[in-house]
Amino acid sequence: MSPTSFPRDRIRIALLENIHPAAAEALRESGYSVDVIPKALEGEDLDTVIASAHILGLRSRTKIRDAQLAVANKMLAIGCFTVGTDQVAIQDAARRGIPVFNAPHASTRSVAELTLGCVIALARRLGDKNSRMHGGHWDKSLAGAHEVRGRTLGIVGYGHIGQQVGLLGEAFGMRVIFHDILKKLPLGLARPVADVDALLAESDFVTLHVPETPRTVEMIGAPQLARMRAGSYLLNLSRGKVVNVPALQDALRREHLGGAALDVFPSEPAPTLAEVDVGFSDLPNVILTPHVGGNTEEAQRNIGLEVAHAITEFIDRGSTEGAVNFPHVNLPAMPETHRILNIHRNVPGVLAEVNHIVSEIGANIEAQQLVTSRDVGYLVMDVNRELSDEVNNRIAALPMSVRTRILY
Ligand code: NAI
Repeated sequence: MSPTSFPRDRIRIALLENIHPAAAEALRESGYSVDVIPKALEGEDLDTVIASAHILGLRSRTKIRDAQLAVANKMLAIGCFTVGTDQVAIQDAARRGIPVFNAPHASTRSVAELTLGCVIALARRLGDKNSRMHGGHWDKSLAGAHEVRGRTLGIVGYGHIGQQVGLLGEAFGMRVIFHDILKKLPLGLARPVADVDALLAESDFVTLHVPETPRTVEMIGAPQLARMRAGSYLLNLSRGKVVNVPALQDALRREHLGGAALDVFPSEPAPTLAEVDVGFSDLPNVILTPHVGGNTEEAQRNIGLEVAHAITEFIDRGSTEGAVNFPHVNLPAMPETHRILNIHRNVPGVLAEVNHIVSEIGANIEAQQLVTSRDVGYLVMDVNRELSDEVNNRIAALPMSVRTRILY
């Protein structure tokens, strides 16, 4: 470590909102000082934490807007220990030189397992049997109860979750078909189909695993539901707006569909709201869950470890791999070199200016990587001579510099 680099135990990490303990454990093992604050913060309490932390970790209830970022003078990075990052103004953070990390795929397996659970529950009408038995009815009727073996599972969106769903479906003896806008290598015996319409016409179970985009909003409406086979089932564990709810209610009411499983809804209530009616309570064979597809202990632990790892890689090596708002730089560490990071406004000529300052101290540049995106440029440079505070200060004083840090 060079005398100019910052000692690890002086890097202060504040983890809010009951982030899984595996994260604090991993970060402490890396040598950082970690403060665990179990609740969400707002107002002055939040500002106080933000002003003193080098890293802020949060889940979805703490909101970080530009007003909060304005006091984040020491902040190196923000870790969203969640799948999404809506709780943080990520472009403002980028402008201020703060990368934001999340864990988009840590709950993949949890969602896939619940999806298959719902496939079987729909095929056996378990939702209705369960509520009838809770109501004191011993209903042994086999009407509408089927095995899933040999049935066709149609997956729309063959990404991380869709692929796992396909593998699990196959393990149950299902025929798996999928449609994705990108060309995807099929896993197992899964077979791609040319378009959504072909998939709808062929599937006994249609399960949606697409992101919410202008193209996917209401991609399943009345015309698509009409193309589904009579008695088939729809599952949505992706995003609520992908399905037109009144059209689905109508298809279920007319018994064109045999049932549906919904984990997500176009508008979802605050977590504390006790009473909720998403509009399906009077319809048979509809399994409703309150957006819990990714809510397992295992997924929370994976999220904790994944974000902690990304943060450690950024602090120690300057890697921004996986950041949602930053150019991705991942320069391998080389022995006997010294590394400096410079985050700057994306204007021409930065590299020449930085190289000039470094060459003036007689240092040779061993490796460098500059990547830009939108407003931000990010430069990681390895040189063969120790870098002084003076070099750091000269680079930091360049008019386009936002943040500069000597790593080692
Ligand atoms: P992913 O990005 O790995 O996969 C999404 C796939 O959908 C990609 O392969 C993409 O090319 C494809 N796609 C995009 N637009 C499409 C279109 N118009 N037609 C067909 N395919 C299209 O995402 P991942 O991790 O598999 O997540 C899928 C969905 O699951 C997302 O909406 C995510 O928000 C949701 N999710 C839900 C959770 C829950 O608790 N229920 C938890 C985690 C994720």
